Amino acid sequence: MENAGPARRSILVVAAALIDPEGRVLVQQRAPGKSLAGLWEFPGGKAEPGESPEEALVRELDEELGIAIDAAALSPVAFSTATDDALSLVLLLFASRVWRGVPRPFDAAALRWCAIDALRRLPMPPADVPLIDPLAPWLSAT
Ligand code: C5P
Repeated sequence: MENAGPARRSILVVAAALIDPEGRVLVQQRAPGKSLAGLWEFPGGKAEPGESPEEALVRELDEELGIAIDAAALSPVAFSTATDDALSLVLLLFASRVWRGVPRPFDAAALRWCAIDALRRLPMPPADVPLIDPLAPWLSAT
């Protein structure tokens, strides 16, 4: 039998593209000491067993940014996959223009609002990068 190597944990990660009236998207910088520290990511995190992806994202955005968002306001954009030695992850990105509260960096080193050109120049985790192109059409001003 073929040696499949060490077993990898599989996780579903949900993330949000929060878009402001100028068509900019919110990204957060991963904090020192975390994996991928210093890289800029779409805010979100691991879905727990039994949660819908939207429920998980509503919870994560409350925990990480202190904002309230309705599950019904989340529109699916695209997914990507990434694998390293320990982990195999599916990252599912939702977009929203509507939330309550002002995002604050409870879990991150910093927050930043980026137009599409600035987003393309940011160092991002491998799973986030392939989501930039599918997100681009959403980043128009209203
Ligand atoms: O933030 P946390 O460490 O809980 O995220 C779980 C996993 O999802 C990590 O491996 C992280 O790198 C990954 N992730 C990602 N892109 C995001 C959010 C999380 O690759 N936008």
